[in-house]
Amino acid sequence: MEFWAMVAQESDSGIALERRLVNEDFLGPGDVTIKVHYSSANFKDGLAITPGGGVVRKYPIIPGIDLTGEVVSSEDDSFAPGDLVVAHGYDIGVSHHGGFAEYARVPADWVVRLDGLSPRDAAALGTAGFTAALSVQGLLDRELTPETGAVLVTGATGGVGSVAIDILSGLGFEVIASTGKTDAADLLAELGANEVIGRLPEDPDAKPRPLAKARWAGAVDSVGGKSLAYILSATGYGGAVAVSGLTGGAGLPTTVMPFILRGVDLLGIDSAYVPIEKRRALWTRLGNELRPRHLSTIEHFAPIIEAERVLRSIQGGTHSGRTVFGVAGEF
Ligand SMILES: NC(=O)c1ccc[n+]([C@@H]2O[C@H](COP(=O)([O-])OP(=O)(O)OC[C@H]3O[C@@H](n4cnc5c(N)ncnc54)[C@H](OP(=O)(O)O)[C@@H]3O)[C@@H](O)[C@H]2O)c1
Repeated sequence: MEFWAMVAQESDSGIALERRLVNEDFLGPGDVTIKVHYSSANFKDGLAITPGGGVVRKYPIIPGIDLTGEVVSSEDDSFAPGDLVVAHGYDIGVSHHGGFAEYARVPADWVVRLDGLSPRDAAALGTAGFTAALSVQGLLDRELTPETGAVLVTGATGGVGSVAIDILSGLGFEVIASTGKTDAADLLAELGANEVIGRLPEDPDAKPRPLAKARWAGAVDSVGGKSLAYILSATGYGGAVAVSGLTGGAGLPTTVMPFILRGVDLLGIDSAYVPIEKRRALWTRLGNELRPRHLSTIEHFAPIIEAERVLRSIQGGTHSGRTVFGVAGEF
């Protein structure tokens, strides 16, 4: 069997993404073989083609941490040819060949059957959308409601941020969107943001205060760093902050004050190793009660052969929303 793939190859001059005809060796181990219809562009895919990015252990690799499509064969009875599925996370696209190829093979307990979403919608959501849903679910589990107050979303034009705004606004929350893009206010309002502010803290040179005036009841934060420290200090009594990312830095220069004086919870969000049953249940919610209402606004389409250009724009900070890569028929 031969098929087309975009293969990340390391050399002395860096990491390039090459369009290549590959053989069965480029299918990972697993029970379910999937004809890939769509993949998508995630921050982690950008790291996979960045020297020192720290997510890929061994090259060559087919990147693509998300893949959606149709089962062509399965050695596990839970899946049958023709099933429409999504698989993302675990080792996909980092140490197990991923979605930037016409075919992929993965273990059955990494696969989610689609319920209420098309393969294209599932790719538009992808890891970033699933992470947004995990974050929102974390706040709901912490008993935040539209009545408990506004929710802040940082990295608002990014994948996690834009889907989080859409979901929260659909649930009736007042949403404050924090973005570094000065021209994004209209787009963010369209997704459901009630207020658009700049990156946080507003004055990066000001001495951080352990507690600031409470400005929100909760937050979905994919930025981390000094921004997260400020967010915690400005979260109201009994609030919660779901943290998934580090675009603003991995450090967290905070104090215990928000935790011990306001009972604020810091919720850690990992999408990669969420156990499969929880993952399947949340995808079902994403296709139903948590379904974003503006996916067509958030999503952009690009053929897979343009993956390198799109991933470089993520690294350059100019990308916004979610790019879906068309895979089947696009090589
Ligand atoms: N824990 C998990 O399982 C998980 C899953 C998915 C993603 N993540 C992480 O979450 C983060 C966001 O992922 P994503 O897919 O949403 O990425 P993305 O689509 O590239 O969006 C990132 C957004 O962060 C903001 N940003 C970029 N550079 C920044 C900086 N220096 N300081 C502050 N904000 C900055 C930008 O939004 P604005 O221009 O609007 O400010 C950008 O659009 C990444 O760190 C990613 O690794 C984690």
